[in-house]
Amino acid sequence: MATFLRPLSYRYQWIYDGFSRLAAIAVGGEFRFRQLTLSGIQFQPNLQILDLCCGSGQATQFLVDRLAQSGTGSGKVIGLDASVRSLDRARHNVPAAKFVEGFAEELPFADSSFDLVHTSVALHEMQPDQLREILQQVHRVLKPNGIFTFVDFHQPTNLIFIPGLSLFLFLFETETAWNLIQTDLVKLLIEIGFQEAKQTLYAGGSLQVVQARR
Ligand SMILES: C[S@@+](CC[C@H](N)C(=O)[O-])C[C@H]1O[C@@H](n2cnc3c(N)ncnc32)[C@H](O)[C@@H]1O
Repeated sequence: MATFLRPLSYRYQWIYDGFSRLAAIAVGGEFRFRQLTLSGIQFQPNLQILDLCCGSGQATQFLVDRLAQSGTGSGKVIGLDASVRSLDRARHNVPAAKFVEGFAEELPFADSSFDLVHTSVALHEMQPDQLREILQQVHRVLKPNGIFTFVDFHQPTNLIFIPGLSLFLFLFETETAWNLIQTDLVKLLIEIGFQEAKQTLYAGGSLQVVQARR
């Protein structure tokens, strides 16, 4: 279940962003949080990046900035989301990226289109069957050796973090988030056909970053 805060946070971007920034304090602030998925990833020339379930472009902006800082002078960031309202905001917030409306489980891209697929705190919104379909789609649209990197919730390994995560999930999330923290995503990615998948835990284990190679 979730509370009235969930629809409110989707309706008003400042509420969503405010709570996201508050939660990011657990890993040292929003800038650090947004870098976690990109740790160790080399930005080569002409990199094609998909920000899957991009929302209002909160993470897309960091991908655009990182591409610009890489000095390769080329490449492209595309954000995809199912919400028209979020995409309108994203186009306003991140004019340097391109945005596409669509469902993550039916990606409107050709096979082997991207070097990097990035997803920030969105997989916990998916039903188990939908999650599997989405990971299969990510595998399909990645180029061979392309990387899928994402950050999402995880069952805390440090007991001190259990009340904080439980309160956050209770206030904002539905049962899909509780399911996700019980799911072995590394195992699922390997089952789907990724060559390797590495999980790193943060904030007492309440957040996971997974980087998987197609
Ligand atoms: C919690 S927000 C995350 C937004 C952003 N990535 C961030 O880091 O803040 C989850 C997003 O996933 C999108 N979403 C949920 N289900 C989706 C689906 N099946 N296909 C595409 N987008 C979806 C929602 O519209 C929402 O914008």
